[in-house]
Amino acid sequence: MLTKVLTVTDTNINDVALEAACLLKKGELVAIPTETVYGLAAQIYDDAAVKNIFRVKGRPQDNPIIVHISSISMLQELVCDIPSVAYDIIDKFWPGPLTIIFKKNKCISDIITCGMDTVAIRFPVHPVAQKIISCTGIPLAAPSANLSGKPSPTSASHCLHDLDGKVPLIVDGGACDVGVESTVISVVSKNPTILRPGIISLEEIKEVAPNAVVSDSVLRAVKSNEKVESPGMKYKHYSPDCDVVLVDSDQEHFVEYVNTVAKDGDYAMCFQEEYQYLDTPYLTYGSVSDAEEQAHNIFEVLRRLEILGVKKVFIHAPKQTGKSLAVMNRLIRAAGFNVVKIDD
Ligand code: TXA
Ligand code: MG
Repeated sequence: MLTKVLTVTDTNINDVALEAACLLKKGELVAIPTETVYGLAAQIYDDAAVKNIFRVKGRPQDNPIIVHISSISMLQELVCDIPSVAYDIIDKFWPGPLTIIFKKNKCISDIITCGMDTVAIRFPVHPVAQKIISCTGIPLAAPSANLSGKPSPTSASHCLHDLDGKVPLIVDGGACDVGVESTVISVVSKNPTILRPGIISLEEIKEVAPNAVVSDSVLRAVKSNEKVESPGMKYKHYSPDCDVVLVDSDQEHFVEYVNTVAKDGDYAMCFQEEYQYLDTPYLTYGSVSDAEEQAHNIFEVLRRLEILGVKKVFIHAPKQTGKSLAVMNRLIRAAGFNVVKIDD
């Protein structure tokens, strides 16, 4: 299959969205930009198309997919209960980088939810994503548009790298602003529970949902047979094809550790305040104090390490609070939970 890449401009956005919608209505898959990461979309009422998402990505059969909408009226068709706290969360954060898990309506197929009785819904703020969904007129099922296990795609070229020859169209809407996937919060449990941290932090959600909590599986390894609230937590994710060691320490200890143990050809992935002290080659992923900048860069940097053919990388871990929790959650999984903790 030939994969076409269409770049969106101010003048062609309607034509590109119509072309994407036409393919989606025919049951084809299209990679689309969102403000978080690119998504691999299919229309939700075409079971064969949704099954194709799993096949193309190599996605585990028990990892459910997020449904994307472009209006609140679409939400009402898809879910059977919207608790009042969900309205407070929606008012503050939608459209935007937040996915909410509800009890599902019958119209949502078991293929999307992998047999669960809940469904994850996201209303992206990206104008191209919104236009493609509204032109299709049907919500779109879309996981991140990477091959399963690989870093999520934050540009059309990342999508092309993973999906060339496998999908008919990639819509290029430029680099994603946020750079990590949406915060996933369940409103089905007694207290709203963050299952995957994102750029919308617990602290921000607590302003409208004071009882909100973060699931304890966000920063720990989940066993393959463990029953979890969000199946995606079980899998190795975001990994470049090299050994990844996450070093959880202050700057001085990180530099000392890497300079002592790194062998020829090993890399460091570090903050821009510390590269000058390292004896190894390095890539920086932002300022130590800027979680949004780190989130924006991590997947691009993880992909670059793979392209460089790096065998082993030592990543300096970010903080584990606020927006940094999203970055830590991705990096700890990229490292397969291989963490070296050095206390003062
Ligand atoms: O920002 C994003 O969320 C991107 C863009 C494309 O919208 N999408 C994305 O999808 O990251 P994906 O498939 O890579 O991650 C979806 C996560 C998985 O961890 C999955 O297990 C979880 O959401 N999920 C989906 N449906 C769920 C459900 N009913 N209950 C619990 N977790 C669910
Ligand atoms: Mg994903």
